Amino acid sequence: MLALKVEKVKKIYPSLNSKGQEVLALDDVSLEVNKNEFYSILGHSGCGKTTLLNLIAGFEVPTAGYIECAGQRVTAPGADRAMVFQDYALFPWLTVYENIAFGLKIKRMASPEIKRIVEHFASLVGLSQFVEHYPHQLSGGMRQRVSIARALAVDPTVLLMDEPFAALDAQNRSMMQSEMIRILDEESKTVVLVTHSIEEAINLSDVIVVMTRRPGRVKSVIRVPKPRKMIEDSPDYLVIRKQIRDLISGEHDDSVTM
Ligand SMILES: Nc1ncnc2c1ncn2[C@@H]1O[C@H](COP(=O)(O)OP(=O)(O)O)[C@@H](O)[C@H]1O
Ligand SMILES: [Mg+2]
Repeated sequence: MLALKVEKVKKIYPSLNSKGQEVLALDDVSLEVNKNEFYSILGHSGCGKTTLLNLIAGFEVPTAGYIECAGQRVTAPGADRAMVFQDYALFPWLTVYENIAFGLKIKRMASPEIKRIVEHFASLVGLSQFVEHYPHQLSGGMRQRVSIARALAVDPTVLLMDEPFAALDAQNRSMMQSEMIRILDEESKTVVLVTHSIEEAINLSDVIVVMTRRPGRVKSVIRVPKPRKMIEDSPDYLVIRKQIRDLISGEHDDSVTM
């Protein structure tokens, strides 16, 4: 079953300067994301990865083409598409509990139901002991766990993640990847992750989408053999890593700078 369909999407940003040059950020991007599968979008900086997620989230509108989430045309942001941002984007004046509860309150859920859901997701991300803490009292890794719990709590059809672990140090990043695998084993979810780490994409994904340089187009779609967490340096792992490295390094910076 399709959770998400991106059909021939093009995105042109209007000019930001007096020269009046528009930016063609994405061109003819089509994707079909199956339910409960993990997709990663890989590509050089500036190739339109964030633009693609923002279009799926409904924060931006495509110039051409369309996006459907569970068969419904995307025209605005909605709780069926929750985003985890690189900088966590937590509300600093709210506790961990209140941050996770935020979207549920907007949905006007009853308090006992909110409590049950918040406790479940705080526990899932290993933060049961920290629900009364404020974001500034937490480490970067813990803040990102709150952000993931907040996104999962609204039970989105698709979880969108824009370089969610990029601000973490290597050790925390690797730990969060393992955590993500454990969380997804417990709660099946459809995920679209943007990253520029090939290893992260291989570790987490069922499917890896490699983009061209700007304007971003789909260069290649690669299905990663199961199990999701491949043994690093196993022959299968090395083959797929080389394949992706070659695809990405084949993208020379010969695009016209606009
Ligand atoms: N709001 C905007 N207005 C104008 N240009 C933008 C805007 N957002 C992004 N861009 C441009 O679109 C291109 C793709 O950006 P982005 O989606 O952020 O790439 P990535 O996330 O892959 O690094 C870049 O050239 C960027 O400068
Ligand atoms: Mg980006």
